[in-house]
Amino acid sequence: MNATRDAWTGEIEIRGLTKRFGDFTAVDDLDFTVQPGQVTGFLGPNGSGKTTTLRMLLGLIRPTSGTATIDGRNYRDIPNPLTVVGSALEATNFHPGRTGRDHLRVLAAVAGVSDQRVDELLDLVGIPAAARKRAGGYSMGMRQRLGLAGALLADPQIIILDEPANGLDPEGIRWLRGFLRHLASEGRTLLISSHMLSEVEQTVDEVVIIANGRRVAQGSVTELRGVPTAFVRSPDPVGLTRALSAAGLSVAAAPGGLLVTADNTDVVGDVALAAGVAIHELRQQQTHLEDLFFNLTESEGNRNLNPDPDPNNSAVGSPGLPPPTGAPQIPVGTPHTGSEEQR
Ligand SMILES: Nc1ncnc2c1ncn2[C@@H]1O[C@H](COP(=O)(O)OP(=O)(O)OP(=O)(O)O)[C@@H](O)[C@H]1O
Ligand SMILES: [Mg+2]
Repeated sequence: MNATRDAWTGEIEIRGLTKRFGDFTAVDDLDFTVQPGQVTGFLGPNGSGKTTTLRMLLGLIRPTSGTATIDGRNYRDIPNPLTVVGSALEATNFHPGRTGRDHLRVLAAVAGVSDQRVDELLDLVGIPAAARKRAGGYSMGMRQRLGLAGALLADPQIIILDEPANGLDPEGIRWLRGFLRHLASEGRTLLISSHMLSEVEQTVDEVVIIANGRRVAQGSVTELRGVPTAFVRSPDPVGLTRALSAAGLSVAAAPGGLLVTADNTDVVGDVALAAGVAIHELRQQQTHLEDLFFNLTESEGNRNLNPDPDPNNSAVGSPGLPPPTGAPQIPVGTPHTGSEEQR
């Protein structure tokens, strides 16, 4: 760890955070904390308020009420913030006519970082050659990698990434996972958002799940996953229950079968065989975490999309869609100095 990083504990604290756009409440009295040394996943379906929350945390928009602080300070009050907090919001807003390398050089100049560090990072994120081409022609995955390089430029203690796995191929997701885990093992704070649990489930230690701008769950992945269970269907449920109970397993009736507390299906199959009971179906039950997230993302009632977002706000529009092509884009979604109030 470098001397600058030692000075920061890296705790992020969100307290009573609320953002209204006219009558529409995008973020609603949100509370959570993020600790250093681990990867925290900030999960929620499309339109649930993830980007809006991160934009408040990064001083890009002002909360209607509540606070979002880093080491107890507002982002705007952090001197030379790029050296403390590295961030990449939607990975679409690079100046299309500028090369990836030049984009990083501009940021490097702001953060007081050498051009040599720019080239090191381009190697690290795997786009050294592409970085000499204009960012306008980048694929989604290349933009993600460039955004990540920008976030890491000044070796920050805190790293905030909005949907970093979006657009990465399976190999890219695996690479990102290893990379983020490594950064956390160095004691850094990592907050990463995603609308897809499966993309980040193996990457994150802690999870905050939001729906309709409100927190619906927070905890470690292990806690939220709940007790592992196997589902088993047998023509002789009574005999099977007796055998499983005798083997010390806890069994409960479920529609069409039995639920057994077991972290793998082998033990259930072995008990059934030894007891001479036929089984017609045996599978590991979906984890509680998946169920929880699935219910959130599938229920229409939890799709909190603002029917009338402000079309003049170039940084928002339709979440997830790339910005219109043509006119140069202001790099609002990349690490910034926190001087710009959008709304
Ligand atoms: N400037 C704005 N004006 C009006 N409505 C807005 C504005 N910014 C965000 N919204 C609305 O707030 C809601 C939350 O948006 P946000 O971008 O935070 O969601 P998200 O969780 O990041 O979604 P996604 O997974 O699609 O990225 C959406 O309904 C969006 O239309
Ligand atoms: Mg978003």
